[in-house]
Amino acid sequence: MKVAIIGAGNVGAMVASRVIDAGLADVVLMDIVPGLAKGKALDISDARPVSGSGADIKGTEDFKDIHDADIVVITAGLARKPGMSRDDLLKKNAAILREVAVNVKRYCVSSMVIVVTNPLDAMTYLVMKTTGFEPCRVMGMAGVLDSARFINAASAGTDSVDGDEVFMMGSHGDSMVAINRSKKLSSSVFKEASGRARNRGAEIVSYLKTGSAYFAPSAAVFYMLKAILKDEKKTICASAYLQGQYGEKDIYIGVPVVLDSSGIKEVIEIKLTDDENNAFKNSVKTIRESIKKL
Ligand code: LAC
Repeated sequence: MKVAIIGAGNVGAMVASRVIDAGLADVVLMDIVPGLAKGKALDISDARPVSGSGADIKGTEDFKDIHDADIVVITAGLARKPGMSRDDLLKKNAAILREVAVNVKRYCVSSMVIVVTNPLDAMTYLVMKTTGFEPCRVMGMAGVLDSARFINAASAGTDSVDGDEVFMMGSHGDSMVAINRSKKLSSSVFKEASGRARNRGAEIVSYLKTGSAYFAPSAAVFYMLKAILKDEKKTICASAYLQGQYGEKDIYIGVPVVLDSSGIKEVIEIKLTDDENNAFKNSVKTIRESIKKL
C-alpha cells in the first residue's frame, strides 16, 4: 500500500513518521519547498532500524512521485498564527489546494483523499469538486481530532474516539457541535470539556506562536488511514459530503460515518435534540458562507 502526503510541515511529517514507524504503508512525502520533504523523509527512514519497520519512504518536490497512491493526505497550506481563525486562511489555502487537487486527479485517479488543510470543511469540498472524485473517496479529518480533544478534556484521555457516545460533529471551527449520549458525563463536565475542545486548536496556536497543533492531528489522520487500509469498518466522525442526510445537500460537514476500504461507506444519521440541531444548522450556515467565497 502507498500513502502520499502532500505538505511536509509538522502535521504531514508527523503523519509520515507514524505510518512508517507502524509499518502501515509505504510513504511518499511531497512538498514544493526545496529539500524539505527529502530531508524529513531521510530522517524518518533512519528510525526504521529502531522501530523495526520495513516500510519505505521517499521525499520529493515533484507531484509525479505521488502516482498511484492508495490514499493521498493533503496537509499543504498555511497554518494559523495567534489571533487568526481557521476561516482567515480561506483564500490563500484555496489557491494552494486547487493546484494540489489538479495533480491528485492527474496522478492518483482512483485514490482516496483525506484533507487536513483549514478551513477544513470548505477545503474538503473544494478538493472533491476539483478532482471530480466520488464523494465517498474524499473526506476531511477533524471529527476524530475534535472528539479526541473533547474526550481527553472530559475523561483524562482514557476512552477511545469511536463515535458512539461522546463526540464532536458540525464544522471544524468555532461552531462545532458537541454530542453527549453518555450517562456518565454530567452536564457541567460536558459543558466545560466541550468548550475546552472547541478552543483547543487556538489555545495551542497561542502558545506555539509559529504553528498549530500536530501531535494529536497526526494521530487522528493515522487513525483514519488505519481504518481504511485495514478495512476496519469503524464509526468515527469525519467531514463528509451530505446528499440529503440531516436535511442538507451539497456540503461537507462533520458527521458520524462508517469508514472502511471503500472510504465513507455510510453517513450515519443520529437523532439530534432541538439544541443540537440548531447548533448543527449554525455550523451549516458558516460552512456555506465559506464555500460561497471559494
Ligand atoms: C487544529 C488544526 C489541525 O485544530 O485545525 O489544531
